[in-house]
Amino acid sequence: PVLVVDFGAQYAQLIARRVREASVYSEIVHHNVTAEEVQAKNPLAIILSGGPSSVYEEGSPQLDKRILELGIPVLGICYGFQTLANALGGRVDKSGKREYGATELKVKAGGEILAGQPAEQTCWMSHGDQVMEAPAGFEVLASTDITPVAAFANSEKKIYGVQWHPEVKHSEFGQNVLTNFLHNAAGIPATWNSGNVIAEQVEKIRAQVGDARVICGLSGGVDSAVAAALVHKAVGDQLVCVFVNHGLLRQDEAEQVERDYVAATGIRLVTVNVEEKFLTALAGVSDPETKRKIIGREFIRTFEEAQAALYEESKADNRPIKFLVQGTLYPDVVESGGGVTAGIKSHHNVGGLPDDIEFELVEPLRALFKDEVRAIGAELGLPAEIVGRQPFPGPGLGIRIVGEITKERLDLLRKADAIVRAELSAAGLDGEIWQCPVVLLADVRSVGVQGDGRTYGHPIVLRPVSSEDAMTADWTRLPYDLLAKISNRITNEVEGVNRVVLDVTSKPPGTIEWE
Ligand code: XMP
Repeated sequence: PVLVVDFGAQYAQLIARRVREASVYSEIVHHNVTAEEVQAKNPLAIILSGGPSSVYEEGSPQLDKRILELGIPVLGICYGFQTLANALGGRVDKSGKREYGATELKVKAGGEILAGQPAEQTCWMSHGDQVMEAPAGFEVLASTDITPVAAFANSEKKIYGVQWHPEVKHSEFGQNVLTNFLHNAAGIPATWNSGNVIAEQVEKIRAQVGDARVICGLSGGVDSAVAAALVHKAVGDQLVCVFVNHGLLRQDEAEQVERDYVAATGIRLVTVNVEEKFLTALAGVSDPETKRKIIGREFIRTFEEAQAALYEESKADNRPIKFLVQGTLYPDVVESGGGVTAGIKSHHNVGGLPDDIEFELVEPLRALFKDEVRAIGAELGLPAEIVGRQPFPGPGLGIRIVGEITKERLDLLRKADAIVRAELSAAGLDGEIWQCPVVLLADVRSVGVQGDGRTYGHPIVLRPVSSEDAMTADWTRLPYDLLAKISNRITNEVEGVNRVVLDVTSKPPGTIEWE
């Protein structure tokens, strides 16, 4: 793999994705990784990410310097660039001037990493410190008005660095810096693709599972659908899928999973109806994290019960169900504190697991990003309606009701959500938005006038977002006419709602979901 050393900002993930977009496999490692650990992974190249610290500050994350002597090509980015300068005898200093955002870059020499790029270009910067002098033996490749050394290279040692963020789309020739580094400087072929991932995962799953039985929770979303299809390809009928109808689903969702998915895959599916159980467990709870924990716990309990029922069947051939498939993705792992970056919310399929879990997990998508999962799903022959589905959180509508969850409120939200989805589809906008949570502010009421009288109803929030990976997002500028139509329909058709509001917050600072 190419190792992306994480210095503590969320950029490491983005870098890892960009590397894969260049058809090269990448993995994120913690910055305290040792030279021996690096060697054991036998990487083709190493990329040092950006990070929020200052290299000369006490306690700032440092790189094991011996890594730079292994003869592996290295590219440092931002803080990683400064780490290289610092470790190899260059000079890093506080400039007193921050460079933030789009910045004019002057390329003096192309070298391997800037080869073929224009002498003047826009790059995306975010730093307070700067490299004042390159280490001995390094050629300075570029500068800006404020930064004398914005990129350097030592072709012999194959060590390179850039001050800007090539992984960010606002850097005009950013992806080109990465492909130059990977393909030209490090000589790595572009061979990572969904076909390889499938072959590799199928083998891994077979090795892990042996001839035991496997259970998989289907949520109706892309992730669990693709995870199950992969496991089915690997171990066939050893897999049984369980669909938990927990009452927090959207309109028609259960039927869709039962109908479309089973038809496409031939997987054995058992539906468990546990709406009442979930509603009872959630009664009186308004705190978002508590809701998430309860939903996570009930999910696992439900599986354990399903397991017990299915266990009877497998008794005959003495092959009990020992494994649980989960569609956990790489961003879930990182956001839950799996990387260096601090946990932000406990995603129910990672942080919310109870300690006494009885299954061993099979997580074939744990190292993958969403776009890769979609490509794999398509390659596995899943229908476009499933592969192209917008993300829907595991805890479902349970985290889209601000306040206590009740059956009435869920029904109300389901109606509003169905209207929004229908109108967005009718307007042909499904491909343009990442997802559009519809949120019921159950704890808020406002005065309205409907028909002949005063109403005192709840607001519905529309949260359409555009995103590449859910790590960052912007609110989608939906056409006013469409918003008007949605608003009219919801206030007319959904009793109890007398106001529709639009969330115009990007992520950060807001998350995509409200809870
Ligand atoms: P946030 O709200 O953190 O959401 O900006 C990022 C993406 O993750 C989805 N999401 C979840 N998915 N289990 C999931 O499987 C969860 O607990 C969960 N919480 C949020 C959210 O819909 C968005 O796509």
